[in-house]
Amino acid sequence: MFAKIFTVSFLTSVAFARPQIPGETYTGTADNATIAGDSSGPDSNGKFQISGIGIRANFIAYGASISNLFINDTSGVERDIVGGFDNASYYAIDRQHPHFGGVPGRYANRIKNSSFTLDGETYNFTPNDNPTPEHPGGVDTLHGGPDGWDWRNWTVVAHTDNSITFSLTDPDGKEGFPGEVVSYVTYTLGNMTWDIRMIALSTTKVTPIMLSSHTYWNLDGWQNNETALALNHSLWLPYGGQRIATDTILIPTGDILNNTKESLNDFWSTPKQVGANFTNPELNGNCGFNCTGYDNCYINNRAAPYDWRVGDIPVARLRSAWSGIQLDVFTDQDAFQVYSCGGQNGSMALKSTQGLHDDPSRPRVIEQYGCVVLEVQDYIDGIHNPEWGRGKKQIFAPEDDPYVLQASYRFGLNDTAVGLLGPGSG
Ligand SMILES: *[C@@H]1O[C@H](CO)[C@@H](O)[C@H](O)[C@H]1NC(C)=O
Ligand SMILES: *[C@@H]1O[C@H](CO)[C@@H](O)[C@H](O)[C@H]1NC(C)=O
Ligand SMILES: *[C@@H]1O[C@H](CO)[C@@H](O)[C@H](O)[C@H]1NC(C)=O
Ligand SMILES: *[C@@H]1O[C@H](CO)[C@@H](O)[C@H](O)[C@H]1NC(C)=O
Ligand SMILES: *[C@@H]1O[C@H](CO)[C@@H](O)[C@H](O)[C@H]1NC(C)=O
Ligand SMILES: *[C@@H]1O[C@H](CO)[C@@H](O)[C@H](O)[C@H]1NC(C)=O
Ligand SMILES: *[C@@H]1O[C@H](CO)[C@@H](O)[C@H](O)[C@H]1NC(C)=O
Ligand SMILES: *[C@@H]1O[C@H](CO)[C@@H](O)[C@H](O)[C@H]1NC(C)=O
Ligand SMILES: *[C@@H]1O[C@H](CO)[C@@H](O)[C@H](O)[C@H]1NC(C)=O
Ligand SMILES: *[C@@H]1O[C@H](CO)[C@@H](O)[C@H](O)[C@H]1NC(C)=O
Ligand SMILES: *[C@@H]1O[C@H](CO)[C@@H](O)[C@H](O)[C@H]1NC(C)=O
Ligand SMILES: *[C@@H]1O[C@H](CO)[C@@H](O)[C@H](O)[C@H]1NC(C)=O
Repeated sequence: MFAKIFTVSFLTSVAFARPQIPGETYTGTADNATIAGDSSGPDSNGKFQISGIGIRANFIAYGASISNLFINDTSGVERDIVGGFDNASYYAIDRQHPHFGGVPGRYANRIKNSSFTLDGETYNFTPNDNPTPEHPGGVDTLHGGPDGWDWRNWTVVAHTDNSITFSLTDPDGKEGFPGEVVSYVTYTLGNMTWDIRMIALSTTKVTPIMLSSHTYWNLDGWQNNETALALNHSLWLPYGGQRIATDTILIPTGDILNNTKESLNDFWSTPKQVGANFTNPELNGNCGFNCTGYDNCYINNRAAPYDWRVGDIPVARLRSAWSGIQLDVFTDQDAFQVYSCGGQNGSMALKSTQGLHDDPSRPRVIEQYGCVVLEVQDYIDGIHNPEWGRGKKQIFAPEDDPYVLQASYRFGLNDTAVGLLGPGSG
């Protein structure tokens, strides 16, 4: 069990030596600080609970992952709307887990050829994606490599009723990356909101850093009695007029494509069901070789300057008419990956809080297209595409400001059209 108060002299000695994000407050003195709070330890399933108004969530040390997120829908029925496992120990046992609610790092998404030349020195990262006979380990590095940040147990450094902070120290050379990186991830629940703040500090060498939050959503809690899938969720990406072109293994080609109106990837001109274009054969290949659906990185084309926190226009809105639960994503990040779970094959178990327990026709698993993953992040593989100008956002030296990712997930209940498809009369 964790102690009531965590001694975090390490955290504060680093954090206080660095620029901080506005609003960030670590209590205590620089040399020997404690972060106060009602730091009750994990429950018997290894989960840490926090609550806000109308929202409750569990997190685990493994990957600093969200494991449960509860919201009451328009009928007042509580839904657990994120993918996860019933207990923390199972994440390490089920090694096939697909970055289940965690923090991919030190470099999220794909790195071409698992290598990168920085200041004349070539670094080889551990490959873990797209194996071939010649390269059985893979030809690129996905989400920081086979032992990326979301395969490791983080340390809980603060835990209050409504927030939790995890920390990870990634050693020099791990997965081939240069230099040590120290990271802090804080999750806070408010009034139907889930706020995310990530910091990463390069402490010894120049290194690429790009993080994300990799949550699997089904806004019906997989309890929609008419479908096990998320293809009826509507998605709106009001700033997503362009996307990063990728090859058949989802490595950027360097091109930025326009999502012309009414095209397969047009989610900007009006909200569209994720499955709206699944009858169009051209959707095959849109998410890689022989893949139907979406695994695409849309650009958040906002006119600068902007304040990402304010305004009514999120970078993404996901909504299910069945539950009426609506998620608005606000973020400081400039890109947004959407994955429609085409790679799921029923091998991932639902939690006891999800699914239809009384319907034998509905296996207690996440089926293909049963979820949507939304990933706030920067441009994929920006380190290999200098023409995109992502350098300052993706490459960090010890003397630089820290890497920062901020997002605010704001939930709402939207009664529109509930009567049509909804649970009861709504
Ligand atoms: C650091 O804090 C701990 C716990 O409060 C205390 O026991 C210890 O004496 C402190 N050490 C220093 C050097 O102040
Ligand atoms: C859902 O509503 C029930 C009954 O009012 C309440 O006990 C529960 O805390 C609510 N759930 C959330 C996540 O707010
Ligand atoms: C943990 O969860 C997994 C998946 O739901 C289940 O198979 C396993 O029995 C659970 N283990 C414990 C100790 O509860
Ligand atoms: C991570 O923590 C879980 C328990 O929550 C444990 O089962 C697992 O072995 C740990 N993994 C590592 C790599 O330490
Ligand atoms: C791919 O990586 C290998 C191993 O580091 C290197 O020899 C080769 O030049 C790289 N190819 C490209 C096209 O960057
Ligand atoms: C929560 O937000 C809603 C609307 O967004 C507001 O009506 C309500 O008063 C807020 N609740 C609290 C306790 O602040
Ligand atoms: C899904 O949406 C389509 C319209 O695009 C509708 O015909 C169908 O009934 C919906 N299915 C469910 C299960 O909501
Ligand atoms: C995207 O649209 C802009 C503005 O219409 C145009 O200048 C550009 O050539 C287009 N890009 C591509 C790849 O078609
Ligand atoms: C995609 O679906 C939308 C909504 O049904 C439709 O308006 C659009 O024409 C479709 N686009 C393609 C390319 O099939
Ligand atoms: C494409 O995927 C389907 C299943 O989704 C599979 O049956 C088929 O063999 C695949 N085709 C190729 C060329 O891999
Ligand atoms: C509710 O959803 C409908 C349909 O997508 C949309 O037109 C409307 O703007 C949403 N309402 C709110 C308050 O977001
Ligand atoms: C789904 O559940 C609702 C409310 O419980 C019910 O009205 C509806 O008939 C059910 N639909 C199916 C296909 O079972």
